Amino acid sequence: MIHTVTLNPSLDRTLHYDRLQLGAVNRASSVRVEPSGKGVNVAAALRSLGQEATILLCAGGATGRALIDDLEAQGYKPICVTVAEETRSNVTVIDDASGVITKLNEAGAAVTIDDLAALERLLLERATAGDWCVLSGSLPPGAPSDTYAQLIAVLHAAGVWTALDTSGEALVLGAQAGPDLCKPNEQEARELAGPAAPSDVSALARAIQQMGPRRVLLTRGALGGLWADDEGLWQAESPAIAAVNPVGAGDAALAGAVYALQAGQAPQECLRWAVAVGSAKAAADGSTYLRHATAIDNLRSIALRRLS
Ligand SMILES: Nc1ncnc2c1ncn2[C@@H]1O[C@H](COP(=O)(O)OP(=O)(O)OP(=O)(O)O)[C@@H](O)[C@H]1O
Ligand SMILES: [Mg+2]
Repeated sequence: MIHTVTLNPSLDRTLHYDRLQLGAVNRASSVRVEPSGKGVNVAAALRSLGQEATILLCAGGATGRALIDDLEAQGYKPICVTVAEETRSNVTVIDDASGVITKLNEAGAAVTIDDLAALERLLLERATAGDWCVLSGSLPPGAPSDTYAQLIAVLHAAGVWTALDTSGEALVLGAQAGPDLCKPNEQEARELAGPAAPSDVSALARAIQQMGPRRVLLTRGALGGLWADDEGLWQAESPAIAAVNPVGAGDAALAGAVYALQAGQAPQECLRWAVAVGSAKAAADGSTYLRHATAIDNLRSIALRRLS
């Protein structure tokens, strides 16, 4: 079983305008409202691969209720810690005349130490030895920066494998806690490695693995990704695709990697799955999260190389 944790979800609103004018009254030509948050995206990508995952999240207020209702309407069974503050709505504004996309994000609903303890209890009630737990996304206000590090420690004590995808101090402390998989993109990887970060990207992946994670999946957008673990270091190039919307491709890549890890695949095959699923997400239009058939096609056309 795979579990995803989303501490700071959002009920995303995407608004299109024919021609947006700042300082004027603008009327949207279309509005889309959908649940979001990295763990939710990972669960959606896994569903596209035919694998259901648990969604654990913190939600509050009417927006939190609407988010849960929407997930339930999609057939998920979200497990929720109800928080006092209102769940955020991140807004994406698209000016169709210029194609310019503007994102307006909120910090998110604050959580308390009691909320985090409740989430940990719910997680430990469901996750059993041999399961995977994906910890991803930014921490909400109120969550200490070692929140993921603490969760990794308690999950490991229960025999649960952990995958981490976050940034900043939460990533530094989380990586040191030794997750079974860590998925930074190149920028997050450079920040994590600090001023001594090697400029060579394969040395960078190896340096991060030496900070604590058992395996590192370092993703590089259209350039593909790298995989470092005790068995070796591999590089995969993305297949040549027409990228439609690469936002969330990292979540899809993480889903692909965990899907393959759970199936007991070899390291280079986990990398192949990550890049195949990430690229399938980047190629998907808005109507579907990603297509399984595209991911399978991508698997065959990925150029993979062992570096050490
Ligand atoms: N433009 C693209 N063309 C082909 N593949 C892509 C493209 N963008 C992303 N991908 C695929 O998705 C994977 C993850 O993408 P990326 O490195 O951009 O993740 P990310 O920065 O974590 O993204 P996010 O946080 O928005 O989900 C890449 O390794 C690659 O396989
Ligand atoms: Mg990312």
